[in-house]
Amino acid sequence: MYKPLVVITGKNGQLGWELSQLKVLNNFQFDFLFIDKDEMDLSSPESIPYFFKQHKPQYFINCGAYTLVDKAETEKELTRAINATSVGVIAAECAKIDCTLITISTDYVFDGNGTSPYLPNQATDPLNYYGLTKCEGEELAVKNNPKTIQDIMPLLL
Ligand SMILES: NC(=O)c1ccc[n+]([C@@H]2O[C@H](COP(=O)([O-])OP(=O)(O)OC[C@H]3O[C@@H](n4cnc5c(N)ncnc54)[C@H](OP(=O)(O)O)[C@@H]3O)[C@@H](O)[C@H]2O)c1
Repeated sequence: MYKPLVVITGKNGQLGWELSQLKVLNNFQFDFLFIDKDEMDLSSPESIPYFFKQHKPQYFINCGAYTLVDKAETEKELTRAINATSVGVIAAECAKIDCTLITISTDYVFDGNGTSPYLPNQATDPLNYYGLTKCEGEELAVKNNPKTIQDIMPLLL
């Protein structure tokens, strides 16, 4: 039986690993492919289209990221490649094959002065380089793929 393919990056990271452990995934009518940098190196955005030539996912969940917040201040090129440029390329590749993209945000895209929970459409104002690159990645994800999901809450309610 045909099952749509869901590709998930960051398979050994906190979020990706937790997702891979969800037993409930077996109940869905999807195939799940968890990958890490061996299959797709987010520090080499130019290598990403090759993955999409081999696999044609219907859904792509990007849990991969450069998450060393302090080190990002000195590893700027690497941080931007992983958190921003690659997300833009993934979104563009997804758009070519009508693939829905979810990429994960962070509170670091906001200024930290909020007094109530942040909402997805709230104005961003990153305080550090990590937040800035995550913010750029989100903007590229939305710009490059009309099927990027910006807010998953309506899907959960
Ligand atoms: N954890 C939090 O508190 C938190 C809070 C807010 C938002 N987030 C967001 O949630 C998402 C997942 O974060 P996490 O906590 O799971 O982070 P994490 O534990 O640091 O995992 C990051 C993942 O990205 C992978 N990765 C790093 N460089 C890569 C590269 N060049 N190519 C391919 N994969 C690469 C890592 O692989 P290796 O392990 O092989 O290096 C790892 O699997 C991120 O977008 C993060 O910004 C996390």
